Amino acid sequence: MINIAVLGYGTVGSGVVEVINTNHASINKRAGDEINIKYVLDLREFPGDPVEKVLVHDYEVIVNDPEVDIVVEVMGGIEPAHTFVKRALEAGKSVCTSNKALVAKHGPELMEIARERSINFLFEASCGGGIPIIRALNSSLTADEIDEVTGILNGTTNYMLYKMSTEGSPFDTVLKEAQGMGYAEADPTADVEGYDACRKIAILSSLAYGKFLNYEDIYTEGITKITPIDMAYAKELGMTIKLLATSRKIGDDSFYAMVAPFLIGKTSPLYSVNDVFNGIFVHGNVLGDAMFYGSGAGKLPTASAVVADVVDEAKHLHRNIMTNWTSHPLKLMEMSDVEGRFFVRVKDTTPDKVDSAFGKVQMIVSLENCPEEFGFITNNMTQGEYQEKISSLEGTVLSMIRVKD
Ligand code: HSE
Repeated sequence: MINIAVLGYGTVGSGVVEVINTNHASINKRAGDEINIKYVLDLREFPGDPVEKVLVHDYEVIVNDPEVDIVVEVMGGIEPAHTFVKRALEAGKSVCTSNKALVAKHGPELMEIARERSINFLFEASCGGGIPIIRALNSSLTADEIDEVTGILNGTTNYMLYKMSTEGSPFDTVLKEAQGMGYAEADPTADVEGYDACRKIAILSSLAYGKFLNYEDIYTEGITKITPIDMAYAKELGMTIKLLATSRKIGDDSFYAMVAPFLIGKTSPLYSVNDVFNGIFVHGNVLGDAMFYGSGAGKLPTASAVVADVVDEAKHLHRNIMTNWTSHPLKLMEMSDVEGRFFVRVKDTTPDKVDSAFGKVQMIVSLENCPEEFGFITNNMTQGEYQEKISSLEGTVLSMIRVKD
């Protein structure tokens, strides 16, 4: 029997218990042993819930119990999660987590402790909800030099943008809906400001490129400034707006990474990733393009990924599963050197003035119900060049959204 302890009985923790109970027989078969939930840790009481029988309030009970083989951390946040996870690993217990904040900040340290002790620290559920993208990067795409990872990595904002675009629903209403469905973070600022997607692209990039990308170095912009008028322009252009988290290798050892809303066209494989779904596009030098798609948030999809890690750890109780992630820092290029195209909305100016600032722009669009303004898409240029050129239109710019080619 393999005893596990689940830290946190919130949305994901209760999902983990449900998944293990629902698929008990097949999970045990795949793990090669019986998975037994010996403890669930939570400060709260759950009267009438079957979890009562294994509920504890004191972490010392778990960390000091030599019968516990695997600790499942689904509390979220940095502390006390970091202390609990570190102590579990130091006590020789494998750990799996859905906690992207913890992995993005302390991943290298925790992986190193696991490596030293021939146990595991796994985090499949930290990125892409139920999509097995981490396993794919660690064990499937190992023949490739990966040069791009671009994803819709936050289910909450994807749900919100989709509803805003298809139903014209206001921002606050769709945010409340996403919270009600258990998609959003405890503090939804992490979703709407892009911080959650930022941590996820830091994790995926570190695995893809084999170096530690510090999430604090990533340029991050959320969706709070996206308005129904932006959505209307997107439709007029035959495009849509998605919050993308992207990183690319440019040349031999030069990288950029960013999180921002992007206009994307119908030919993009990410265009049809709607609702709470996540999609992750990976480009490898020999593979070419690959897309991973699935449920990006919510109780059971996330719990499915956590339990898959439990099974993997049960199968490798005293053998470390290597990852490509090292603590060697991944340096990012200056954002001013990153190239792209830009969709800009302006008012109180003319297409001629835009042309004299940018050269001939690719497209001018206007909306019937907004006669005082128009939008245009620039040619490809660095962000530095864009800043320089747009300065001559100062006072007329309403908004800018990047365009993903
Ligand atoms: N709040 C996150 C999201 C949960 O919406 O994607 C899954 O990581």
